[in-house]
Amino acid sequence: MKRERKLRVGIIGTGGISRGQHIPGWQAVSGAEIVAVCDINEAAAKKAGADFNVPNVFTDFKDLVGMKAIDVVDVCTPNKVHTPAVLAALNAGKHVICEKPLAVTVKEIKQMAAAAKRKRRKLMTAQHMRFGGLSQALKKFVDGGEVGEPYHAVVHALRRNTLPAWGGFIDKDLSGGGPCMDIGVHALDLCMWLMGCPKPVRISGSAKVNFAKGYDIPGGWGEWDRKRFSVEDWAAGFVVFDTGATLSLESSWLGHHEAKGDMSCLIYGKKATLQYPSGKYATHKNGAFLTGVIEPAPEKKRAHAAEIEAFFQCVVDGKPSPVPVEETMRVIAVLEGIYQSEQTGREVRVRL
Ligand SMILES: NC(=O)c1ccc[n+]([C@@H]2O[C@H](COP(=O)([O-])OP(=O)(O)OC[C@H]3O[C@@H](n4cnc5c(N)ncnc54)[C@H](O)[C@@H]3O)[C@@H](O)[C@H]2O)c1
Repeated sequence: MKRERKLRVGIIGTGGISRGQHIPGWQAVSGAEIVAVCDINEAAAKKAGADFNVPNVFTDFKDLVGMKAIDVVDVCTPNKVHTPAVLAALNAGKHVICEKPLAVTVKEIKQMAAAAKRKRRKLMTAQHMRFGGLSQALKKFVDGGEVGEPYHAVVHALRRNTLPAWGGFIDKDLSGGGPCMDIGVHALDLCMWLMGCPKPVRISGSAKVNFAKGYDIPGGWGEWDRKRFSVEDWAAGFVVFDTGATLSLESSWLGHHEAKGDMSCLIYGKKATLQYPSGKYATHKNGAFLTGVIEPAPEKKRAHAAEIEAFFQCVVDGKPSPVPVEETMRVIAVLEGIYQSEQTGREVRVRL
C-alpha cells in the first residue's frame, strides 16, 4: 500500500539504546520520520533533537503523546517508566513499540494489552534478538518440524563482569530487577519463541547478590554505587509449562564464568536438540546419529533495525504485532515468578 505521508514517530528516552539503535533505526525507514524526542533530562533531550535533526523536543512524555501529529511512540526509558509511558501513548491513540522488559509484572502487561485492544493500536516489545539472521533461520527449522516437540530447554544470560553501572539498571525503583530482567529477558524470550511460546504454569527460582555489594570482581563497564545497588546480580529459575516441557534459566551480571558473556539457549526436542548461537543441531536418521549447523538467514538489516522495520510494516499493513503482547506476558510471568519464588521460598503457580 502506498502511504500518502510518512508515519510520524515520537521517541521517549534519549539515552544509550535510543541514540545507538532506535533513532538510527527509525531514520533508516524511508516511510517514517521522527518528529519529536523527549527526555526527563533536558540537556539529553536537546542534544538528541540537535544531533538527529528532530523539530520537537520535550521533557515530559505527556506533552509528546499529546501531539496529534504523532502516529507511533517508541519508549526507551528505564524499565519502570515503561508502563506509564506506554499506557499514556496507547490511551492517546498511538501505536507503541517499547524496549524490553515491556514491564516487570504481568499485571502491568495486562493493563497495556487491554489499552491496546480498546484503542485498536499495535503494541510490540523490542525483542531484537528474534530479528537476527540466525534466530530467523532457527525459527524456520523449528517451525518446519525438525526439532519435534520440545521437552526441555536451558537458557543462559551470563556475564562475567559487565554490570551496567549507569542510569537506572542497579536501582530497583527504576529497573524492577537485575540481570534476570535486563538480559535474562533476551535469552528467555528467544528460547520461548523458538519453543512456540508455551504457557508457564509453575516456577521456582532464586535471585541473590553474590558480588555486587563488595569489590571482588572489577566492573568491565565501570564502577557502580554499592549503596544504591538494590537488585540481584544472579538469578536462577526452573519452569514447568502447560505442554509438560521444562526450562532452566541462569542469569548474571557478575560471576566467575570462563566466558566474558554467554547469551545462549539449548532446546531439547523429541526429534533434535538445537543450540543458539552456535546454530548446531543433533538428531538421528535411519539409525545414524547426525549433527549439523544451521546457517543464518541473510540479513537486510541488523537485528535492532530489522525489529523497527518490522514494527513499521505491521502498522502500515495493519498486520499483527511482530512480538505480540500475549507472548511477552508469558516471558515476564517466568521472570516475575523467579522473584516471587525467592521472596516466598516456594514454587509459584501462574494463572494467565
Ligand atoms: N535491546 C537492547 O539491546 C537494550 C540495550 C540496552 C538497554 N535496553 C533497554 O532500554 C531501556 C533504556 O536503557 P538505556 O541503556 O538506553 O538507558 P539510559 O540510562 O542510557 O537511557 C534512559 C534515558 O531515559 C531517560 N528517562 C528516564 N526517565 C524518563 C522519563 N520519565 N521520561 C523521559 N525520559 C526518561 C533518562 O534520562 C535517559 O536519558 C531499558 O528499558 C533497557 O532495558 C535494551
